[in-house]
Amino acid sequence: MVGKSNTIGFIVLLFISIYGCQRDNSADYVFAPTPYQFPERKNGYPIYEPNTDNPLTEEGIALGRYLFYDPILSGDSTQRCADCHKQENAFADPKRFSIGISGAQGRRNGMALFNLMWHPEFFWDGRASTLREQVVVPIEDPKEMNSSMSEVLKKLNRSTFYRRLFYNAFGKHIITQDLYAKAMEQFLFTLISFNSEYDKFFRGEPTSFSEAAFRGLTLFNKEPQLGGADCFHCHGNIHLGSFKMVNNGLDETHNSDLGYAETTGKDYDQGKFKVVSLRNIALTAPYMHDGRFATLEEVIDFYAQGVHANSPNIDPQMDQIPKGLNLTTQQKSDLIEFLKSFTDSEFVNNPNFSNPFD
Ligand code: HEC
Ligand code: HEC
Repeated sequence: MVGKSNTIGFIVLLFISIYGCQRDNSADYVFAPTPYQFPERKNGYPIYEPNTDNPLTEEGIALGRYLFYDPILSGDSTQRCADCHKQENAFADPKRFSIGISGAQGRRNGMALFNLMWHPEFFWDGRASTLREQVVVPIEDPKEMNSSMSEVLKKLNRSTFYRRLFYNAFGKHIITQDLYAKAMEQFLFTLISFNSEYDKFFRGEPTSFSEAAFRGLTLFNKEPQLGGADCFHCHGNIHLGSFKMVNNGLDETHNSDLGYAETTGKDYDQGKFKVVSLRNIALTAPYMHDGRFATLEEVIDFYAQGVHANSPNIDPQMDQIPKGLNLTTQQKSDLIEFLKSFTDSEFVNNPNFSNPFD
């Protein structure tokens, strides 16, 4: 029975693919893109500023979304961007280090992806200055998708499915690196997250913001000399992360990963990493560039007791607390309640960002 239904399935598939090929040259090749409407921008939130040479369209975004979820971008066609960047984790990687297709293990934790339009630099060490440059790196990284752009472009140009989608989005019959990067950039730019309980509280809308979260907010924004936890100096803007390159005192020495110094070649940049956003932080464990902390409790304990104040190039803000923040157990849990209010459930459940092949 099983064999028989498989055979029927095969014949049906064969029919679909022949039929699909015949249709390929026909009216499906239409170039009439629909401009994308960003969600309404609320007061106090940053202005949408996508690149003017890559206007967002429904067709471009839909294409980028297919690419993000398609293993065609990897060397042996088994790994997708989405394998390391999972929607339910705000597009971060829940594994400490991910395994690339060659079996090699990376040394950094996969980063959360949202609000990327406003980032000045990408990666923990800022080595890509535009998203369009960034989206080529994972494809060619031997520890990630282990392919080359020329291989991927060959595969895409052989696919009638992608030739049609690229034509619909850009009006071009040949798929190039530039068009690949523009499509991926368009999809990534639509990953916008500004609707957590914290945001609703900030905007004066009805919210379930708790008393404990409110106490945590006060601690977050208070100087350490006044008994606060002093998070706001680096995580205090609307993004809850300055995106600057900073050493927050995780280590005394930086042999295995020099951080920003690997980008700039300057000794004084050793141990500096991107101050990432704390939005959706309860969903993006493990934490820090090397995923060394499994829980938010461990992160708070680090800021409270574990900072290496004698780490070279430590940020001046951090060496003000050489003996730690002296937080009580109650204060630690209030701070964590506040961090949890940064979760944007609408974002992680948004059907526009899920796997389009499902
Ligand atoms: C094997 C796991 C893996 C795969 C596959 C992967 N990434 Fe990543 N991604 C990472 C890691 C790890 C980092 C941080 C790397 C670093 O800083 O050196 C990262 C960082 C990023 C960043 C930077 C975010 C920021 O805030 O700076 C973007 C954007 C990104 N990835 C997009 C993609 C896209 C698009 C793809 C598919 C083409 C992809 N990734 C495939 C693991 C992965
Ligand atoms: C001097 C700037 C600075 C201050 C002050 C600061 N942070 Fe950070 N924070 C950073 C940097 C830099 C990173 C990334 C470090 C790394 O991965 O090497 C980071 C990372 C984090 C992360 C992990 C993010 C992730 O996605 O892995 C959390 C959580 C965090 N900080 C919470 C806090 C809290 C809570 C406070 C206040 C108690 C605070 N930070 C104070 C600079 C700072």
